[in-house]
Amino acid sequence: MTKNIPLIDLHPTHDPLEKQMVAAFKSVYERNAFVLGAEVQSLEKAFARLCGVKEGIGVSSGTAALTLTLRALGIGPGDEVLTTPFSFFSTASCIAYVGARPVFADVEEDTLNLDPAKLEALRTDKTKAVLPVHLFGHPARMDAIRRFAQKHGLLIVEDACQAHGAKYLDRSVGGWGDAACFSFYPSKNLGGLGDGGLVVTDNAELAGRLRVLRNCGRRDVPYEHSELGYVERLDNMQAAFLLVKLKFLGRWNAERKKLVRCYEEGLAGTPVHPLPSLPEAAPVYHLFTVRTPRRDDLQKYLTGQGIGTGICYKTPLHLQKAFAYLKGRRGDFPVAEKSAEEVLSLPLYAGLSPAAVRRVCAEIRRFFSRSSNG
Ligand SMILES: Cc1ncc(COP(=O)(O)O)c(C=O)c1O
Repeated sequence: MTKNIPLIDLHPTHDPLEKQMVAAFKSVYERNAFVLGAEVQSLEKAFARLCGVKEGIGVSSGTAALTLTLRALGIGPGDEVLTTPFSFFSTASCIAYVGARPVFADVEEDTLNLDPAKLEALRTDKTKAVLPVHLFGHPARMDAIRRFAQKHGLLIVEDACQAHGAKYLDRSVGGWGDAACFSFYPSKNLGGLGDGGLVVTDNAELAGRLRVLRNCGRRDVPYEHSELGYVERLDNMQAAFLLVKLKFLGRWNAERKKLVRCYEEGLAGTPVHPLPSLPEAAPVYHLFTVRTPRRDDLQKYLTGQGIGTGICYKTPLHLQKAFAYLKGRRGDFPVAEKSAEEVLSLPLYAGLSPAAVRRVCAEIRRFFSRSSNG
């Protein structure tokens, strides 16, 4: 019997590291070092270095990273933040959490990332920041977004939750904005054994504010609170696991890239089109997402063959119930809406075998040859 191929499997990366993970657990356990311990600090330093910036601030999730960053930058009621309608919910909910208004701009037809050409027309006197997403590990067009932001004195917060280790031009993602936010949700390219997140920035003052905000508004003295902060610290145990895994991120990202090349070869000539990456970008393929006109039928067929798939995202953000108050309507963002009907993510993870990728491609070919034969 042929084996099922899941969309994501963490065992191939976790199993060989079991001893190191258990040792990391024991070390934290034996020192009772559960909150803001040495591991959080080491991870902050190492991850900031990876992004080519000075400061890292460990927080409890990618959502917390985005929300606290906007708050620390002083964005709040009456402000507008330009962002993409084609992303995970938190990209826009963080803007709403701080009392500001998400203003969506449609995405580019090819990359499905925020389209810099659409920003100018949506800017108002209330616009304070741009929040691009490096979707599926593909860097957004950061040079153009930066030119736009600089021209109008806007802040940039990168949502890099899906792009650990990606590069745009000569710079890592995370180094293009005033701050960048990462998620360590388990399925991310670098994921913990639970939730986690991190902000990186070159701005020492912003980093200081974030350290206060994540820790109950406490500056240095215990039980003295200078402002209404939150409990959004990165768990030290997660930091310990992430430090073990961080050493392998480059290797795992390279593996993902090879598997994507294998997919590209296997799918050539089919009506299944992988998202292209920008020539100036080095993506990290958080997901391998394709576009295809018969998406739902293909998904059903692949499920029947034991092949896991995912749809990111079926409902663009302007059509989510939670954002009904923004009065978004179908037709507002045609590229995002069309993409939502066409995208399908195929199995991809470090440790997936090229043979499994070839099998997925063969099944896709079989699906289309069957349907073209009636
Ligand atoms: C683009 C994007 N932004 C934000 C988040 C939120 O991260 P978390 O789930 O760690 O809160 C995610 C995670 O799925 C994401 O993919």
